[in-house]
Amino acid sequence: MAFSRRTLLATTAAALAAIAGGAPLIFRGGPPRHVLTAAEKNACGLTVEAVEGPYHVNGLGELADGNLNTTNLEGLAIEVSGHVYGGAAGEAAIAGAEVEIWHADSSGNYHPNGNGPSSKYQPGEIALRGFVKADAQGAYRFLTIYPGEYTGRVRHFHFKIRAPGKAELTTQLIVPPKPGDKLTFDTDDIAEGLPNCQLLTVDESVTPAQAWFDFRV
Ligand SMILES: [Fe+2]
Repeated sequence: MAFSRRTLLATTAAALAAIAGGAPLIFRGGPPRHVLTAAEKNACGLTVEAVEGPYHVNGLGELADGNLNTTNLEGLAIEVSGHVYGGAAGEAAIAGAEVEIWHADSSGNYHPNGNGPSSKYQPGEIALRGFVKADAQGAYRFLTIYPGEYTGRVRHFHFKIRAPGKAELTTQLIVPPKPGDKLTFDTDDIAEGLPNCQLLTVDESVTPAQAWFDFRV
């Protein structure tokens, strides 16, 4: 069943307040959590929006190869790939769509642990973030490291999708927990507010580990 991602966005938009610097924090409060119906939880139509959070840096240059800067950062190598398609059920590729990713390192820190224009930061401060343009088949691909959990948040990737003729989509994909993780999904309002299909399956039997997701906008 298709449903509006905007109805879900409103439920989580107040979950985070924009802050710059310091340890990652999540601010609770605001509207009560929207508890997804079973139909919403199992739907996999248009990609559901999720809050941007306080660590988005804008104005980054395009990554030529999809390889994120992981210099001096340790973690399981993971390749995240898929397509950008138009419509809830269609397979119409959106060539040239911009797919932007940003995420925390294995210790739960962003690089930078801040936001705003990239011009505020030295190039060496910018890691685990960037964007690529989808190819003629709508395909995108990133190579990075497995994201870590942090206060109030299970492991996740942030994304923005900018496609011609479409409203910009800001969303998140949740990755599986690791042994010893402190958090469970039911303690993370944002993860709880996303349908199951935005919980990534990761194949760790290969190197780099593989995760796939097709965005539908
Ligand atoms: Fe985050």
